[in-house]
Amino acid sequence: MNEFAVPTFTQLEPGDDQRWSTWQAIIPSQRGPEPRPDWVVTSAAAFDTELGIVKTGKEADVFLIERAVPGEAGAVMAAKRYRSTEHRDFTRSSQYEEGRRTRRSRDTRAIANKSTYGRAIAADHWAFAEFDALCRMYAAGAPVPYPVQVNGTELLMEFIGHGATAAPRLAQVRDGLDGLLEQVVEAMRLFARAGYAHGDLSPYNLLVHDGRVVVIDLPQIVDAVTNPNGLDLLHRDCTTIAVWFTRQRVKADAEELFASLLAELY
Ligand SMILES: Nc1ncnc2c1ncn2[C@@H]1O[C@H](COP(=O)(O)OP(=O)(O)OP(=O)(O)O)[C@@H](O)[C@H]1O
Ligand SMILES: [Mg+2]
Repeated sequence: MNEFAVPTFTQLEPGDDQRWSTWQAIIPSQRGPEPRPDWVVTSAAAFDTELGIVKTGKEADVFLIERAVPGEAGAVMAAKRYRSTEHRDFTRSSQYEEGRRTRRSRDTRAIANKSTYGRAIAADHWAFAEFDALCRMYAAGAPVPYPVQVNGTELLMEFIGHGATAAPRLAQVRDGLDGLLEQVVEAMRLFARAGYAHGDLSPYNLLVHDGRVVVIDLPQIVDAVTNPNGLDLLHRDCTTIAVWFTRQRVKADAEELFASLLAELY
């Protein structure tokens, strides 16, 4: 190097709004299914940069994260972080959890008691449950974000949107609703064929990205047959969807939809 050469600046340590990519630290079963989309960044040299918050919710907050090796193009992801100690509402959990078990009974009791320990496990549990549900539904070919990884209370998944702007929720969309109903029904069919009901389906948990419907918010998916509330939850999903579309003047019949999904289950 002569004395006039200007060295290229390479960032060696993460900055304040950054951390080392957590990819290397997690065990393979907490990484998304293969084949992985080519945008997934697996390099040990990558940083995760927090770009902002997408939405704060009742049980979790969704952040926008970029994972990139400094100086290279990276991937933007949604980081859904479940709350552990703040005011979370666990009451709705029970109907989804019947017929499901946590492996350790101490954990089950702690969750039931809502102790601090219980809340911490419950937050991990919901993050993992959503990761697992995304993996299953992704494998079933359903339109869901690709699950990149889960690490404690944080789930990283494909960001549905353009640049840093999240795709609108179906609730905000007014155009092309006929075609969107067809897509929602098709997505429900894929869930049912795999044996599941979403369990909390609504125009707020459906994103519309470039005319394509993407189903989100899956931690509570239920086995429609073995869960004692499975069919009720499936029926409720059908009603919510049919009522919303009908209000938008797109005719949809909840009972017909329910019957057609039942046929996929059995
Ligand atoms: N993968 C994603 N890509 C883009 N936006 C997302 C993604 N996941 C979630 N969001 C945004 O964050 C919001 C909240 O996500 P989600 O519904 O999964 O969490 P929640 O805790 O149930 O929130 P809420 O209490 O508002 O229902 C969504 O409505 C959507 O706008
Ligand atoms: Mg939601």
